Amino acid sequence: MKYYLSDTEFNLFSTLIYDQSGIHFSHVNRSILESRLKDRLRVLKIDKVTDYYQFLIKHQDEMKTLLDLVTTNLTRFFRNNGHFQAFEKHVLKKIVEYKKKTNNNHIQVWSAGCSTGEEPYSIAMVMKEKLPSHIKIEITGSDLSLKSLMISKGGFYPENRVTDIPEYYLKKYFEKKREGYQVKDEIRDCVKFDYHNLKFDSGLNNMDVVFCRNVIIYFDAAAQKATIGRIYREMSEYSFLFIGHSESLFGMNTDFKFIKTEWATLYQKNSTGMEF
Ligand SMILES: C[S@@+](CC[C@H](N)C(=O)[O-])C[C@H]1O[C@@H](n2cnc3c(N)ncnc32)[C@H](O)[C@@H]1O
Repeated sequence: MKYYLSDTEFNLFSTLIYDQSGIHFSHVNRSILESRLKDRLRVLKIDKVTDYYQFLIKHQDEMKTLLDLVTTNLTRFFRNNGHFQAFEKHVLKKIVEYKKKTNNNHIQVWSAGCSTGEEPYSIAMVMKEKLPSHIKIEITGSDLSLKSLMISKGGFYPENRVTDIPEYYLKKYFEKKREGYQVKDEIRDCVKFDYHNLKFDSGLNNMDVVFCRNVIIYFDAAAQKATIGRIYREMSEYSFLFIGHSESLFGMNTDFKFIKTEWATLYQKNSTGMEF
């Protein structure tokens, strides 16, 4: 049986979710919210959605569960491969030059909204493969979906999830198990995973590269602008940002410079006053 929210109930829940995460439910995707709430009420054996609302505002853990339920966690290894080409052939080269000039050999990358880990592990494989060994690689994958973070941390993917990994990387950086592939420790050791809600400050700083792809697409314009502003402040003075290819910073009036490479478009922060 289909489950319908009254307009008042829909507004109550969509406002709460927006305030807690930036995720915007419009009337167009109202049925997704309805079906996720219906499932949760059934599990908790709560009949009335208004009783669930009261329960929710008193229990922070339940709020986390609800946010997890309303997220879309679709991802894959090397998603939008042009980004990985631009990362390898343009961004890493520029960052290494900058690091050399500033006598620093530590590169920090943030995969913000990393879902089940395919994005940060793809980044780690490229960095491991392309960077000289004296460079310290530190990648942070963050998300507000606890279920996704558990999968990320496990680093195990069934056969049908590894089809986008180039053969060379799959052989070198994964161990074949009976029912899938396990990311090897040399890659897992480069990546740490954290619970983080992009609605709030991350506590991260000096990020050299940020991937925040296919995340702000679920936010409204105000939450997108606030998130991008926070990310900008958390980036190093010379750094790069990748967003999803159906996302844009157009109209946000940021200090990022739009860059078009042979492989993909991306954004650069440069508050050093110098060109590299
Ligand atoms: C569609 S996935 C994108 C995964 C990956 N970045 C990619 O492009 O393949 C979007 C992810 O953003 C996360 N997300 C949504 N809102 C968030 C928020 N406010 N804070 C942190 N993560 C969020 C979701 O949990 C989900 O895992």
